[in-house]
Amino acid sequence: MSVDQGAGFATRAIHFGYEPADEHGALTPPLHLTSTFAFDTAEAGGEMFAGTRPGHFYSRISNPTTDLLEQRIATLESAEAGVATASGMGAITAVMWSFLSAGDEVITDQTLYGCTYAYLRDLARFGITVTAVDLTDPAALTAAISARTRWSISRPRPIPTCGWSISPRSAPSPTRPAPGWWSTIPTPHRC
Ligand SMILES: Cc1ncc(COP(=O)(O)O)c(C=O)c1O
Repeated sequence: MSVDQGAGFATRAIHFGYEPADEHGALTPPLHLTSTFAFDTAEAGGEMFAGTRPGHFYSRISNPTTDLLEQRIATLESAEAGVATASGMGAITAVMWSFLSAGDEVITDQTLYGCTYAYLRDLARFGITVTAVDLTDPAALTAAISARTRWSISRPRPIPTCGWSISPRSAPSPTRPAPGWWSTIPTPHRC
């Protein structure tokens, strides 16, 4: 049974990315509760650590169970790929540390989830400027955008603790939707 992107939402939610035949016919995907994985050869292990060969070698980096979750979320959100983290703040900080550099600017809404606010405030120590504006006012967002703006972060007002949107490297604009979205409740599938 192979379920591809063309299958219905419910079918992909249950079956995408998993072949029971690969796991002795187990209908429910097994949980891989191992921290480390064996290598065929020391060379193969070295290449995996170096990132030049695909494969699982350490569960904090990748694990078949987490991998399946990431594939399922990605297909349901029509995304290229997914990355699962242990918490929302883990996701926010991982993405920020990966894409921001000294000199970049971030625009946020005036109201943010408290821990996100505290984290962004600390980014100033690393040369990143964070500007809070009223993102219900498109003119305020337009005025705050500069050539160094990398991200705009907001949470939808109607739902109290939801999300942030991600802008591309080029400056975001109120008329051009951000390509990415993170949220606690509304998913890109539903928004
Ligand atoms: C909007 C928003 N951002 C971030 C978080 C942090 O998530 P976590 O507690 O899983 O780190 C939450 C948690 O409720 C949230 O609502």
